[in-house]
Amino acid sequence: MGVIKIENLVRDYGGGKGIFGISFQVKQGEAFGFLGPNGAGKTTTIRHLMGFLKPKSGKCTIDGLDCWSERDKVQARLGYIPGEISFFDDMSGTDFLRFTAEYRKIGTQSRMEELLERFELDPKSKIKKMSKGMKQKLGIVAAFMHDPDILILDEPTSGLDPLMQSRFVNLVAEEKERGKTVLMSSHMFEEVERTCDRIGIIRKGRMIAVDSAAALRERHTRSYMVTLEDEAAAKAFAADFGGVCNGEKVTVTTKQSLEEIFMSYYGGDSNE
Ligand SMILES: Nc1ncnc2c1ncn2[C@@H]1O[C@H](COP(=O)(O)OP(=O)(O)O)[C@@H](O)[C@H]1O
Ligand SMILES: [Mg+2]
Repeated sequence: MGVIKIENLVRDYGGGKGIFGISFQVKQGEAFGFLGPNGAGKTTTIRHLMGFLKPKSGKCTIDGLDCWSERDKVQARLGYIPGEISFFDDMSGTDFLRFTAEYRKIGTQSRMEELLERFELDPKSKIKKMSKGMKQKLGIVAAFMHDPDILILDEPTSGLDPLMQSRFVNLVAEEKERGKTVLMSSHMFEEVERTCDRIGIIRKGRMIAVDSAAALRERHTRSYMVTLEDEAAAKAFAADFGGVCNGEKVTVTTKQSLEEIFMSYYGGDSNE
């Protein structure tokens, strides 16, 4: 199992802030990228899924369980990385992981060790002395170590360097291969494009596109007509750039990158 459903979720913080009728579904075994700039409403949506916020209207369910009224059951089957990780600062990373393992009632620690190695994290120091990146790694280990079927990851790579970011993308790809359901928020096009089957773009609390990365790209092809000096020049040009010749004219079709698509939806005002 592992089906995530969000239907018409509303949370109005006033002043145009909040989420206003968010709907989308993540299918069993799918990796879904929840893409949008800071302040778009990703964390607010995800907090409803975790049962931290009660819907003002609309609802969300995971495996048919209501995320608010059955939140204990829902949380038990999830792995979760919060957007703003705040730990019990006085604990060491090791204590935190032990605490999490007890809460999750998991006996074997082999997967935890494997994850610590993979992300090159030594959890012995106090959390308050850890860098942002180390805390993020600790959050990753805690979210994945009980091998949950559903992963809800709120900007999971924030604070990670490019090497660790790429290790994380690989980890998510492996989990997807193993049939896990993944919802991952991000403001970075590239990691979502590399990891996710489908992508939902949120802007100012509203979904403005939900589709496969391929379909989003397909919708955004552009054709250019180039007129060359003569047919021979046109043929040479078409051979080099993959266009279609018609006399001295060549039609070239280009696909926008997801980043360009994203920017076209946002119209460049991504810092609001
Ligand atoms: N508890 C709150 N009270 C008032 N406004 C909030 C609250 N939480 C979030 N917001 C506002 O709602 C908008 C969406 O926030 P958030 O869901 O955190 O966005 P994202 O995770 O996409 O960056 C932002 O403008 C944010 O300032
Ligand atoms: Mg957020």
